[in-house]
Amino acid sequence: MLKGFPDNSVDLIFADPPYYLQLPKGKRLKRPDGSEIIPVDDAWDQFDGYEDYDRFTTDWLKECQRILKPTGTIWVIGMYHNIFRVGKIMQDLGIWFLNDVIWVKIGALPNLNCRRLTNNHETLIWGVKDKKSKGYTFNYQLLKKMNGDKQMKDTDWSFGICRGSERLRGKDGIKSHPTQKPLKLIQQVLLTSSKKGDIVLDPFMGSGTTAVVAKALGRKWVGIEREKKYVDLAIKRVENFTIAK
Ligand SMILES: C[S@@+](CC[C@H](N)C(=O)[O-])C[C@H]1O[C@@H](n2cnc3c(N)ncnc32)[C@H](O)[C@@H]1O
Repeated sequence: MLKGFPDNSVDLIFADPPYYLQLPKGKRLKRPDGSEIIPVDDAWDQFDGYEDYDRFTTDWLKECQRILKPTGTIWVIGMYHNIFRVGKIMQDLGIWFLNDVIWVKIGALPNLNCRRLTNNHETLIWGVKDKKSKGYTFNYQLLKKMNGDKQMKDTDWSFGICRGSERLRGKDGIKSHPTQKPLKLIQQVLLTSSKKGDIVLDPFMGSGTTAVVAKALGRKWVGIEREKKYVDLAIKRVENFTIAK
């Protein structure tokens, strides 16, 4: 799909790619209250080793870099399982880093096996097409205003994980998408680095979180998703989303 996009055609890319978690299929964990944790062991997160994952990552990142305007920026989110590999590949391709941001996940999992620390964050890498890129959007004044007229300079962002009425669930109560990101996180990304009317691309659209935020903030959006059930979910979600007047 990405190969069909013209060069230098999108203003912002938000990518939440497969993590390659390598969890054993069918393994179930329980929270202290006995409720079940359903891990990400879906087909879209399976690869034949690191070489395969790196090839996949290089392919999509190369295309994203080509498609991104010289004035655009790219955000990629990941966990310790994949973000270091993704970051190395981004740098090898010449993507120039602006920041890495830590999303501190309020309400993350408890410490289940007590054999190591609990991972309560994800990392976002923010970069431009290459070292020569100039004129990218950073809404310094807006962020300052949102922060009670104080400079908003920090790279640790605390937002709750996606739960409650925001979490999409089927009639059976099961999560409709295993890794739905919170609206507030993506809202912060778009408010930081895009303008009204900009084109936002999400190459791993999942449940459509980026599309919903883009619609709410008056940005144009394009999403790519390989699983039909998630495409349907995302379309329905965007269509049902209305902005209160
Ligand atoms: C980590 S999830 C993204 C979740 C999304 N940010 C949300 O809030 O719902 C990654 C998504 O990428 C999709 N995916 C994996 N490989 C893909 C590919 N090659 N092309 C398009 N989508 C893909 C998966 O089906 C999954 O929905």
